[in-house]
Formats: sequence, C-alpha cells, structure tokens
Amino acid sequence: MVLFSGFSFAQTATSVYLMPWPQSLEVAQGHLKIVPNIQLIIPNDSSDRIQFSATQFLRNLSNKTGVFITNGFPLTVVDNSNTSIIIKYDRIGKLEIHEDESYQISFKNNQITLTSVTDLGALHALETLLQLVNNNESYFYSQEVSIQDEPRFTWRGLMIDVARHFQPVDVIKRNLRGMASVKMNVFHWHLTDDQGFRIESKLYPKLQELGSDGLYYTHEQIKDIVKYADNLGIMVIPEIDIPGHATAFLAAYPELASKKQDYSIERNAGIFHPTLNPINPKTYEVLDGLFSEIAPLFTSKYVHIGGDENEGKHWDENPLIQAFKLKHGFKTNHDLQTYFNIKLEKILAKYGKKIMGWEEIMTPNMPTSAIIHSWKGVNEGKKPLTSLIEAAKKGYQTVLSNGFYIDLMQPVQEHYAVNPLPSNLDLSPTERKRVLGAEATLWSELATPLTIDSRIWPRTAAIAERFWSSENKQDLQHLQERLPYISDQLEQLGLTHNSYKNVLFRNITKSENIAPLQILSKVCEPLKIYTRNKGGTEYQSYSPFTLFADACTPDATDAVLFNLAVELFLKSPTENNKKTILKWLKKWQANHLAFKKLTVNPLIKNITPLSKNLAVLSEITQQKLTGTAVDSNTIKALLKAATKDIQDVELTVISSFTKLLY
Ligand code: ACM
Repeated sequence: MVLFSGFSFAQTATSVYLMPWPQSLEVAQGHLKIVPNIQLIIPNDSSDRIQFSATQFLRNLSNKTGVFITNGFPLTVVDNSNTSIIIKYDRIGKLEIHEDESYQISFKNNQITLTSVTDLGALHALETLLQLVNNNESYFYSQEVSIQDEPRFTWRGLMIDVARHFQPVDVIKRNLRGMASVKMNVFHWHLTDDQGFRIESKLYPKLQELGSDGLYYTHEQIKDIVKYADNLGIMVIPEIDIPGHATAFLAAYPELASKKQDYSIERNAGIFHPTLNPINPKTYEVLDGLFSEIAPLFTSKYVHIGGDENEGKHWDENPLIQAFKLKHGFKTNHDLQTYFNIKLEKILAKYGKKIMGWEEIMTPNMPTSAIIHSWKGVNEGKKPLTSLIEAAKKGYQTVLSNGFYIDLMQPVQEHYAVNPLPSNLDLSPTERKRVLGAEATLWSELATPLTIDSRIWPRTAAIAERFWSSENKQDLQHLQERLPYISDQLEQLGLTHNSYKNVLFRNITKSENIAPLQILSKVCEPLKIYTRNKGGTEYQSYSPFTLFADACTPDATDAVLFNLAVELFLKSPTENNKKTILKWLKKWQANHLAFKKLTVNPLIKNITPLSKNLAVLSEITQQKLTGTAVDSNTIKALLKAATKDIQDVELTVISSFTKLLY
C-alpha cells in the first residue's frame, strides 16, 4: 500500500479523481470490478435519506458504467458470494451544525464496507465511492482504497439568489444534487430582494402577487425542496432580506415603507433605498405573520434575515423615524437597525428559529446567538476575514463568504486560495471553533435558469474541497487534473454547465453549425468583478442572457492550456514547444475562416470582431515566431484592439500574445 495523505503525494499513477480530497487515503494495488450482480446492502431500519441516496447511487453507478445491475435497489441481506457494498452506521444524523459526518471506506475481498457514525457520513461515503469508479478498456472498477474522512468545517454552503432571477424547482434540485456530490451541506436560499419576493405567503398574498411577476415557490414546493435536500444531507437556510433590499416587499405593502412613494419591482441591479419602516408596529405584525408561515416550512434552526446594505437614506428622510431615534437615544442608523433586528430575533424565537445575518447585523447589543455572515471584502477597503475575526472574538458563530463570490466570474484558483481559517490567525481555540465554515454565493443578476449552473460549476467543486479538505491541500496542478472528471460527473448527475453552451450557440448561429463558436468560446471569458453590467443598469432583469458572453465561462479551457504552453515556451524556447504554440495559432486562424462562413445575422455580427482579433493576432504571432519581421506599431494597435472587451467578453489569451510579440 502507498500512503497518500494531506499534502505530500503524487497521484497520477493511481487514477483516483476525488473531490473533495479525503483527509486520509491509502491506495492499494487492486481494484474491484463493477459487475451486474453487485449488491448494495443497507441496514433494515434505514432512514429515508439512506433509502433515497442508496437507490440514487445504484442508478448513478449503472448510468456511469452502462452495467445492467441486477439488483437496482438496496437490499438488507448480504449474499457473501457476490460483490457487495455494505453500509453500516450507528444512528440517523441531524441536519445541524457540528453533527458527525465522518466516514470510512474499506475493501476486503469482494466487499466494500462504508462505516460511519451517522447516515450523513454514509451519504458522503457513497459519493466518494461513485467518484472512485473508473475504467480500463474492458471493464469498470473501483480502485481499492482505504479512506478515513471527515470535514474540516461543519458549514459548507452554497447560496443561490432566486430573487434577481427566479430559479425553478428543477434548477434548485439539480444544484442540490451537485452540492451533495461534493459534500456540501448547507443550501442558503436567498428568497427575497429588491427584484423579487419568491416565497408564497398565504397571510400576505400580495407579496407574491405584486412582488414576483408570478415567479415564486409555493409552500408545497418549498417543503418538497427541503425534503429533497434532507435526503441529500443538506440543510436549507431561507433568507428573507430585510429591512433593506425590500423593494419587491414594498411593491406589495407600500404602507410598511420608510418613505411615502410609489414602489414597483426593481428591474436593475445595485443597492436601492426602499427600506421597511422599523418604527411602524404594522411592520412587525406582518413580519410576525410571515415568519409564522415560513418557519415551519424549514427544518433548520436558522433563518437568515439579510440585513445587508441598508444605507438608511429613507430613514434619514423620515422625520418620525428621526424623532424615534432621538427619543430612544439611537445615535446611528445602525442602532436603529439593531432595534429592528432584536425585535426580529424575538419574533423568530417564538417560532423556534435563530437569526443569521450578513455582517452588518453585528452591532453592539446584537445577541451572540446570531450567526454573522462575513462578506465584505477588499472592494470595500477591508482586509479579507476582518469581520469574521471580529465576530469570532465578540462571541458570535460566523461563516465566511468573502472570497467565495462566484458570480464575479473569477478563475477557480482565486477561490481555491482563500482559506477561511488559516492556522496562524490570531484567534484563541474557543474563538476558532466559532468559525463554522464558509459559503459560496451566486448572486443572480446575470444568471438565468439556462446559465446558472455554469456560473456555479465546476468552480464550486474546488471551493467545496476548500471547505472540506485539509488546509494543506493546495496543489493547483492536482486540482486541475481532477476538475475535468468531477465536472463531467456533475453533468452526468444532471447539471448543465457545459451542455447549455450549445443551446446558446445554436441560438446565436440560428443553425446547427456552431463549431466556430465552440472554438472561439474556449479562449473567451465573461467580464469579471462587476465590469459586466456597469452601474447595474446595462442589463435589466428582463434583458437577454443568451449572448455569447453568457455562453462563456471562467477558466476558458483552451486559454488555460495556451497560456501554460506560452509560459513553457518562454522558459524553454525549444522547437517542440514552439510547435505546440504554432498549432494553436493555426487553429484560431482557420477558425476565423470557418466563422466567416456562418450565415450572418446580427448576433454573429456583434461577435465577429472577437474572432477576427484572435485570428489576426494568431497570424502575426506566427510570423514573429517563424522569423518574419512584424512592424511594432501594427503589434501595438492589434493588441490594443484585442484587449478591449467586445460584447462583454474578453479574450483571455492576450497577455500571452503580448509576451510572444514583445
Ligand atoms: C451582499 O453581497 N450584499 C451580502
């Protein structure tokens, strides 16, 4: 046996493509063949969760391998002569923080045993086992391994914003499935914002009638998703974002606003002023009613109350609110928001819930029973982890999202590098324990049901590893080796982060001929860090999100390969390394010829300069590499033209071209 644990290992020889990487893994030489009579054995008194996940495992195993499994359902009795997967766990786990999610996998003869304290651990073991399945020319097998695994953090979340763009039940479910496959356990459901109130209220139906364009979840749908998530070992945290981010809320109930004006659903992106009135008793009456309905739909103890980005403009403009502040000795709007939050805390406590909120709720007098969600980052002039450290020191449990804003379209390694709890952080052991974990956040201003998976995956698989695996697991090359396998598996499980591209390409070409767009898109990325949709007004929520930029994704695959090839060539300018580069350049030149043969329409016309810039740069770079003199002013002009974003897309090979041309 070879021991691969934590940091020090080299993996390629073993063909183990796990993500997240386990805490401890021993790889044996042998492997166990996936045969039709393989059995999956579960205890007699298994939970719904295990029944569901074990059955799904068999379906997925069958689909992955094409093996016609005879017993396509879990059994309770072992036949020792058959290849068996045996699940053993001590008790049903609770979907709560700090629950035991550890598991072990061992192989002996023709049996694979998955051992865990809770059924939640068993679920993780099944996901690991599915990822272990590999093949040679003749058959599918699982590498024989011995694994002992447990999460680094108890809170491994993904937030999906369904307010800016509504995401139907099936979109949520397939993303939950993806989360489970990489061992994430918290789904934070951002249900309301300025652009939509997406949860039904039976007591205050105007909320969905006037606040959602008819796009909201009914109570039955919410319960269905919560149950589905439970079966996958995922707890669901609903967020009702108040008192700010409340335009849609106030479109329904303007009498609860801090300022008298007309309210209608916001169609742009950004930070807006409409805010609930914290001194109006009716505000609390409505919130009490609303939470009395919402709280029982969710099994988790926490309700996220948002609380972010309330700049208090409408509070400042309201003389009654100002007088109230004076009377109560509230010096700042933060004090007033604390007053609001504490009232909310009491309302939620009545319904058995505790508060979670964005870091703005961390004000003096805020009870430490609240979870502080740290999100503000370098953009606001704060060092990463600032509010996380502050929260932990002040006695709050806390969750990190700064560094995990996946809507920013940043490369995977930038998120992978963010450590929610570095070992050298100035926190005592007690304070460190308060850092529950972290959450990736997908804000959906630019993400529709068609594109959202590609804005989440596969990068979130790498982020999930950051949340689960050892802090020492930092090897980028190893990440890049595994990510394509994991990405493909996520699609097999129902996600659409690659397949959707062809749908958009066909919409652009209005034909089946999409190859030139496919090739071009592999060196193009959507603009990053809010440079797309400047000011939040270039796109409205009803704008087209079927553009070439929407079909492009971070970590454009050919750009990554080309940029590596250029690095290699610059370090070691051999003929062979040059040949690799010339191959790419010829490909892109030829691609533009194919592009020009597409039947022209306005959508194609818009992106033709992208293809042309790439082709022209490819041409002169070939000349340069093969010894033909190229005029430096021409180079300058071409690079300048190609650096400009076109249709919210950037060519992510320009810096490599620059290096080759200068
Ligand atoms: C946030 O990004 N406003 C929490």
